[in-house]
Formats: sequence, C-alpha cells, structure tokens
Amino acid sequence: MPKKQAKSKYTADRGIPGAFEGETVTRRRFMVGTAHATGAIATSAILLPALGFALGPLFENHKVRWQPVGTPDEFPDDTYVPKVITYADGIGEAGKTTVYVRKRNPQLDTDRLPKGFESEQYVAISTRCMHLGCPVRYTEAAQRFICPCHGGVYDFQGKVDGGPPVRPLDRFYNRVRNGQVEIGPRYSVNRELKRFSPRNPGEPLDGIGGILYPSRPTIRRLDSLPQD
Ligand code: FES
Repeated sequence: MPKKQAKSKYTADRGIPGAFEGETVTRRRFMVGTAHATGAIATSAILLPALGFALGPLFENHKVRWQPVGTPDEFPDDTYVPKVITYADGIGEAGKTTVYVRKRNPQLDTDRLPKGFESEQYVAISTRCMHLGCPVRYTEAAQRFICPCHGGVYDFQGKVDGGPPVRPLDRFYNRVRNGQVEIGPRYSVNRELKRFSPRNPGEPLDGIGGILYPSRPTIRRLDSLPQD
C-alpha cells in the first residue's frame, strides 16, 4: 500500500491561490479567527460583569448583627422613635439608616410572632420605600409613613395605604439585652404582616409574588438566627 504523503504546512505547497511564500495560515482562516476572537472579547465584556453581579452575593459574608438603640422605656406604643443604625460597615454615613421603633401594642399588633421570637416586644420599621427604595418619613399628625418620591403612603403599622408601593415596609427583628433594645436583621412582610426573608423594593409578597420573588440563597433563614 502506497504511503500517504504528509500535507505540507505551507499554503503555497498546498496550491492555495494567492498564497505567499512561507505562509502557514490562509488569509481567510486568519480573518475568521480574528473575527471570532473579537466577538469572544466583546461578549465577555458584557457577560462577565453581569455574572459578577449575579453570583457576587453568593460569596458575601452575612453576619447577624444586633445593635443597641436605647432603653426599653424610651419607646411608647402609640408613636415611633427614630433611631439610626449601621447596616453596612466601612462606608461612613452612607452605611447608616433610620429605623422607626415603638413598643408593640397588643390591641393593634396581632400578627403571629415566629417560633423563638414569641417574646418580641417592639416593632422596628425600615424607612426604605417598597416602591423604588426612597426613604420614607413618619408623620406624627397623620400617623402615616409618607414617601416623598411618588406619593407612597403607609399606615401606622407600615401597611400600604396608597400610591405605588407593592408591599408593607420592611421590619427588623428586635430583642432586649442588658437593658437595651437591640435591632437585628431586616425581614420583609406581606399584607398580613407574615414574615419573609428580606426582599428588594418592588418585589410583592402577596399572591404569586412569593413564588416570583423567592428568597436569595445567601439570606440567613429565620430558624438560623441566634435566639439567645
Ligand atoms: S419610591 Fe416611594 S413611592 Fe416611589
């Protein structure tokens, strides 16, 4: 059987029209490779940052932190006292937020307390509007939380009373330790004030909202919070 002759690496030897002497890659193949490489670089420039945003939170360290905000007698049950807490370290004032705190009123606050938190005595409400996240303010005269951005209104318990917000204001776990009311992690609530792990503004939790906006895997679940 005649031995098969090895193909030359030079394009000129292979009889390719227009080949230069010493050329090993045809110009067509070179151009196709260049176009593919350019496409891959352009795609990565869009895809990699998007992947980083999507997967970055998986590697965040979510430590549960309890912050003292005052003695128990500072907080009445018929109005809110604003307190400032830190929710992100290392970014100064930008990492602080206001929380409205009051004592629970058994006539009004009939929502069921979760296991391990049956003795929770305070209501701590977040100021982040559940439409697009603007800071809301509690207005004493109206006993309402008002959002200045698009007219969102929340009642005394933080339930939506008007405007575009999609769910009640978020709340914070709280407890009393060493004579101080301490504010813990944030949680979200639906219309019945049932607790859910924190969601973003604009994510409803009633109806199919809870399915469309599931909790993020990095969020600590209620049953893993320290309860002592
Ligand atoms: S951000 Fe509050 S109503 Fe739009």
